[in-house]
Amino acid sequence: MKRRQFLAASAMAAAGYGAGFSFATKPARAQSKPRLQIPPLLDTQTTGRLSLTAKTGSLKVFDGPATPTTGFNQGYLGPTVIMKNGEVEARVDNELNEPVSVHWHGLMVPGEQDGGPHQPVASGNSWKPDLNIAQPPTTAWYHTHIHERTAAQVYSGLAGVIHVSDGRDDERGLPANYGVDDLTLVLQDRRITGSGAMLYEPSMMDVMHGFLGNWMLVNGQAGTVAAVPKGVVRLRLLNGSNARAYLLAFDDGRPMHLVATDSGYLSAPVALQSINLSPGERIEILVDFSDGAAPVLISGATQPFAVQEFATDAALPVRITRVPDVLDGELEDLSGREMRTRQVSLDMGMGGMMMGGARFGINGRAFDMDRIDFEVALGSVERWVVTSTMLPHPFHVHGVRFQVVSENGNTPRPENRGWKDTVYVPGEAEIIARFDQPAPRDKPFMFHCHILEHEDAGMMGQFTVT
Ligand code: C2O
Ligand code: CU
Ligand code: CU
Repeated sequence: MKRRQFLAASAMAAAGYGAGFSFATKPARAQSKPRLQIPPLLDTQTTGRLSLTAKTGSLKVFDGPATPTTGFNQGYLGPTVIMKNGEVEARVDNELNEPVSVHWHGLMVPGEQDGGPHQPVASGNSWKPDLNIAQPPTTAWYHTHIHERTAAQVYSGLAGVIHVSDGRDDERGLPANYGVDDLTLVLQDRRITGSGAMLYEPSMMDVMHGFLGNWMLVNGQAGTVAAVPKGVVRLRLLNGSNARAYLLAFDDGRPMHLVATDSGYLSAPVALQSINLSPGERIEILVDFSDGAAPVLISGATQPFAVQEFATDAALPVRITRVPDVLDGELEDLSGREMRTRQVSLDMGMGGMMMGGARFGINGRAFDMDRIDFEVALGSVERWVVTSTMLPHPFHVHGVRFQVVSENGNTPRPENRGWKDTVYVPGEAEIIARFDQPAPRDKPFMFHCHILEHEDAGMMGQFTVT
């Protein structure tokens, strides 16, 4: 084993794969469990308008007292927003008593239209960006992004999913009946006490490893069954956890046909037995339920735990019965066109922790709102060599989609061969991107670790594109 692989493997164990979850892989008895609820749909395709209001709410994960939460337009998480290419008049209102922002993770829009740490919406205020959407279909998401508050605010519920659609999924042979054969699943682990409280009070070790939970929530619910038609179903999975990476598989070994990665469709589905999904990443998979069985989506190699149970419901209409052979996602060949190469070292200092504070940074420096780390030329192609020390980190870049050209010197794993905006880096990953969206000095793009505790602790940088 190379040293890097060993580090990655031991770090993964430390990061809590197979930590003591509250769920067995198989239910002890088939008792009637609640049905998984899919987030409400907010369709902007005809209105061209999008309105999100950050507000307080509460969540009851199991029978017991509810815990206070926040959400967009509802008590926890937010609606699934469908968008098509063109202009969307967005509006964000903040009813909370602290600033929030809305970053469009996966939308390729200029820095001015994006709500990172530089575009806070103060309590009682609103923000009205006009979004110019011009990109291939994708599953993106939105979440708050206030520096040093992102982890706590996302944890309490300020996130939701976006579907960019071109209305042509029927031609592609892809399931697209929202909530019926096209299911949006937000995976989040949460730490919930016996009395039902979902507290976010990270210790030094939690900051070091990322804050991990003891309950598995999907769309804010635990222990549910997702009802699916007896045919081919599309699952859009978002890892909306603060820190946990999932190694997803079905307990009966059925294949997951990967059709899209973070930033759009592949050129053809790829059948996989297991897929790694780290914080911030999305995948779309097709699963064939035509045998009427009730498989469980599980996570983890050594001590797997249940993520989501499924059961077929004969009352649900079957529209798609086979996995398409080809798709129209295209990977443009960017290699050899780089104008420059940059090194991006994701640093964390153990010594720092001994000295009373974990130290996180990129290229030796913690995030500084007033420092621009990189200046990228608009329209240029760059290669970034991203390295992780101590722990694997999910690395994310705003405002672009990228290709992973190598992982630890090898061909990337299948789930990293499509367009991406976030990549798990267990050692080293080389990525290549063309920077097509402008970002000025006062509204720069971010690049950061998507373990939100690491991001808030300083593992983030910012760049202009001009
Ligand atoms: Cu999903 Cu900068 O984040
Ligand atoms: Cu982002
Ligand atoms: Cu990290």
